[in-house]
Amino acid sequence: MTVKKNTIITIDGPSGAGKSTIAKLLASTAGYTYIDSGAIYRSIAYAYKIRKDGESLEELLHNLPVTFEFGENTRVTLSGEDISEEIRTPDISLLASRLSQQVPVREYANATQRRLAADRNSVLEGRDTGSVVFPDADIKFYLDARPDERANRRHTELASKGRGQEFHTVRQEMDKRDANDSTRAVAPLVIPDGAIVVDTTGKDIEGVLRIILNHIKKRDSQRK
Ligand code: DC
Repeated sequence: MTVKKNTIITIDGPSGAGKSTIAKLLASTAGYTYIDSGAIYRSIAYAYKIRKDGESLEELLHNLPVTFEFGENTRVTLSGEDISEEIRTPDISLLASRLSQQVPVREYANATQRRLAADRNSVLEGRDTGSVVFPDADIKFYLDARPDERANRRHTELASKGRGQEFHTVRQEMDKRDANDSTRAVAPLVIPDGAIVVDTTGKDIEGVLRIILNHIKKRDSQRK
């Protein structure tokens, strides 16, 4: 008897490439579990920001009382308190990017993703889900778009949440995060081996989803 293993789809890329929207849509279309790895890094950053005086990163990560419910509106709690909104601010974005260079933080986030995706068909979204966390994923995508369009999307997203910032500030912070995430020594943002690269510049969500679903269909028919 052959035991069918769960299917893992990874979607990596820089911020504003459209990963979250596509990963959520794909997961709900396919009936898969959606896992937003960025939310894990963001919750660590938030816990770090409000840590007790003198608490080290290792101490903080040991039994971090955090829970995740990924979905249309991802829900994150820390010590039972809802921090879903708090982890989305620009200062937490930058702190998450900075802390994600630390090996213990990456180990914690990797273990959490593997635990959450164990035995479940999953769509994971992040910077290294296809290169490091699940290098043997069934299908890997890498989404990208021109920097000005990514900054535009981020600018609109922040404004829609009542956290509007000047466009040039959004662009500056995005450039800083891109540089951090792509040049760090551990698990930098790269196109994973075997990933399908999709340039989302000038494309709407339906268009990107169509491209992704076509690739999945093609891959499935090659396997039969
Ligand atoms: O996807 P996001 O913007 O929510 O991620 C926030 C930060 O977390 C990002 O700037 C870098 C880090 N991150 C990471 O290093 N690896 C991942 N797989 C996901 C996020």
